[in-house]
Amino acid sequence: MPEEFLKEMKELLTEEEYKKLLDSYLEKPKRSIKLQLDKISSKELEQIVSFQLKSIPMIDGSYYIEEEKIGNHPYHHAGLFYVQESSAMLPPLLVPLKSSFKVLDLCASPGGKTLALSNQVPNGFVLANEINYNRAKKLLSNVERLGLKNVVVSSMSSKSLKNIYQEYFDVILIDAPCSGEGMFRKDETARRKWSKEKIDELSQIQKELLEDSVSMLKENGYLIYSTCTFNKKENEEQIIDFLSKHSFEIIDIPSKFDSITNQGVIIKKEYSTDKARRCYPFLYGEGQFMIVIQKKEKTEYKNIEDNLTNLSNEEMKIVTTFMKENLKRNDYIIKKCQNNIVILPHSILIPKMTLLSCFVKMGEIEKERFIPHHQFVKAYGIDFINKLSLSFDDNRTICYLKGEEIEGDVEDGYGVLMVDGYPLGLFKAKNKKLKNHYPKGLRYQNN
Ligand SMILES: C[S@@+](CC[C@H](N)C(=O)[O-])C[C@H]1O[C@@H](n2cnc3c(N)ncnc32)[C@H](O)[C@@H]1O
Repeated sequence: MPEEFLKEMKELLTEEEYKKLLDSYLEKPKRSIKLQLDKISSKELEQIVSFQLKSIPMIDGSYYIEEEKIGNHPYHHAGLFYVQESSAMLPPLLVPLKSSFKVLDLCASPGGKTLALSNQVPNGFVLANEINYNRAKKLLSNVERLGLKNVVVSSMSSKSLKNIYQEYFDVILIDAPCSGEGMFRKDETARRKWSKEKIDELSQIQKELLEDSVSMLKENGYLIYSTCTFNKKENEEQIIDFLSKHSFEIIDIPSKFDSITNQGVIIKKEYSTDKARRCYPFLYGEGQFMIVIQKKEKTEYKNIEDNLTNLSNEEMKIVTTFMKENLKRNDYIIKKCQNNIVILPHSILIPKMTLLSCFVKMGEIEKERFIPHHQFVKAYGIDFINKLSLSFDDNRTICYLKGEEIEGDVEDGYGVLMVDGYPLGLFKAKNKKLKNHYPKGLRYQNN
């Protein structure tokens, strides 16, 4: 551990806590998963899995697991859960989200918190943004795998976003880039890259993220600020500096989390930063700082120009024919966004901006035929008429995940391979032979 870091921790913690921190570094981090609750309930998962699950108290649909190679499990491919460290599960649970809320997840990749936010706002939506384009692609692949229906993915700076959205979001989560002191136990790179200079650099970025969020948030909207680091500069001091310039109030965090967290540090007595919560590896998870502040000022509202357009009559005819032949329902809200045919979870207006994805990509029209997209299958695969249901340990499930052709008793045409009742991917069948449409980049040999 960096010496200067340990010196700071000694100052921050009581003697007993500091000793516990050092002891905790000798233990192995716990592995845990968070369920995609829009697809599967805890009860349903407990009935189908063959590996051991231990419920994490206070967080619905979350478990400690022992299983090592969970990323290769067919249920992971089916998007039933996301591997996430337990203290990182807390920030999206700190404010009561109304189901219609519009949420901005400003620093979203790889998307663990996007999942929890998405589950809470089925009648609203989440704009999951990630400035780094490659990381945004990783975020999109998780959004696809999990089959999230109400998520839009972008890769923009906070400066560009604030020119588009004004007084728009009910909640903004800033899970800020940070020096990662809470990752030291499990990540050698975080330990190696740590320096005081890095903290200064990151604290400037965090300042900008907070500043740029102000105008995007509605009056009385909530800003959740979290990091996975312990130093005060990136946490309490950052918030105090922000509060000295803006009319925001620090909000209480649900008391049920008191037993697994420490209070934030009071730095100036006029600011109640003790309402912030801190997780340490000797208490719970790896490490997290979190605070909720509520906006008490108004910004000018800006009208938004819609990014979504209707399909032409010709396009709609082709899509409708596909739906009649292949699906059990025909009541999707279908629009076009940047030339993609997309399914909206409900009527919603999305401003003109460049997006990596806009809700669920349904597919595309090629030579007057509709070709369904993988994301459509992951989110709405259950609606297909033609399905092959296999169990997770059926050899054909593994062969499918490897990209091989398999055999099955299905009708000719497009269909969905289901693993124990959950959509895994698309196939196109002819004479009981299923041509594999599982995306190449996701197949087993690439993992
Ligand atoms: C702690 S991680 C986010 C983890 C994510 N919220 C999750 O739960 O999976 C912080 C993210 O902020 C991104 N980031 C770095 N600089 C940024 C900036 N200036 N604006 C927005 N995001 C930034 C990083 O690329 C990184 O993906």
